Amino acid sequence: MDTTTSPTLLSSFKLGDLTLKNRVIMAPLTRARAGVERMPNALMTQYYTQRASAGLIITEATVISQQGCGWVQSPGIYSEEQTEAWKQITKALHQTETPVFLQLWHCGRASHSSFQENNQLPVSASAIKLNGEYIHTPIGKQAYETPRALEIEEIPRIIEDYRLGAERAKKAGFDGIEIHGANGYLIDQFLQSKTNQRTDKYGGRIENRYRFLQEIVEAILTVFSPEKVAVRLSPNGNFNDMGSPEYRELFIYVAQQLNRYGLGYLHIVDGLEFGFHQLGEPMTLREFREVFDGPLMGNCGYSQDSAEATIKADNADLIAFGRPYISNPDLVERFANNWPLNPPAEMKDWYSFGAEGYIDFPTYPETHKS
Ligand SMILES: Cc1cc2nc3c(=O)[nH]c(=O)nc-3n(C[C@H](O)[C@H](O)[C@H](O)COP(=O)(O)O)c2cc1C
Repeated sequence: MDTTTSPTLLSSFKLGDLTLKNRVIMAPLTRARAGVERMPNALMTQYYTQRASAGLIITEATVISQQGCGWVQSPGIYSEEQTEAWKQITKALHQTETPVFLQLWHCGRASHSSFQENNQLPVSASAIKLNGEYIHTPIGKQAYETPRALEIEEIPRIIEDYRLGAERAKKAGFDGIEIHGANGYLIDQFLQSKTNQRTDKYGGRIENRYRFLQEIVEAILTVFSPEKVAVRLSPNGNFNDMGSPEYRELFIYVAQQLNRYGLGYLHIVDGLEFGFHQLGEPMTLREFREVFDGPLMGNCGYSQDSAEATIKADNADLIAFGRPYISNPDLVERFANNWPLNPPAEMKDWYSFGAEGYIDFPTYPETHKS
């Protein structure tokens, strides 16, 4: 291999007609600063702009409908007001030439009736309760409820909500969409046998369980060109009570099917730091590389060195950083200059609503002023 041209973490990357200035990607991070109206705002604009040296910013998960809500004060993209409000963020990032993808979200069973219109039960592929301690809701910590299985007639409405979300995202100036198919939310609930026991064309065989994601991808492709659309999957995770015995066959199948669209990238949460289902050997980026033809993004537990090694080994094109981006707005500059990272943020600040623990992490030069 000609090492003078081999890519590095800090080398640029061509994503369709977008040029990412480096391969350090800001992972989607729910931070719960959008208020009860789920409205993007000036504080969020400041937070994202501080992180604009990333090659690509993926926004925090953003709900496509009230039914999709399951997190207190996370932003939405289901109203004209929210669409307008997102423009301040896309505009600020485009002034820094940083592309930004919106992550579209429907929580499915990882919700509670107190989030829902008329206090209805949350919905899922099947009526299988999330086995978890509690969920934070607008009325405080609550026990999980058994969701209602979606009627087959209701599914087109949800696909349409995804399409509308993409259409609004386009109007708001986003460069593309990341479909949140990871971490036990609605799409993952359809994909995995643990949460999908349907007997109609959306359940049973892997091909059927994939259908919901397929229809979402195809709906979004009527709005954005393929290289502006991406999918995130978490084949190893147990977050939100997930993990199904056929995980390897399932996720290889999904990656192979997605080949037909020429998507911008496939985002795999391959690391185990966020929980591992322990149903067998973890899936690796190499396995996805072998079956997926397009750009591949890895995530979870990466350091600069492990990310660099992963790119050098050609196991991924891009690496997303989550927690490092919470406490290091200048992560790219720190990597480029071999500056140490700030200590990790305290977990109490992850979803704590205000400016504190959000936009107050200093850059390296700010802490080392002479
Ligand atoms: C505070 C916090 C919020 C998160 N929110 C999201 C989210 O909105 N969407 C998503 O796909 N993953 C979310 N994740 C998972 C991260 O994107 C990422 O997978 C995880 O932090 C592991 O990567 P890291 O080791 O680089 O932090 C979140 C993680 C954290 C810590």
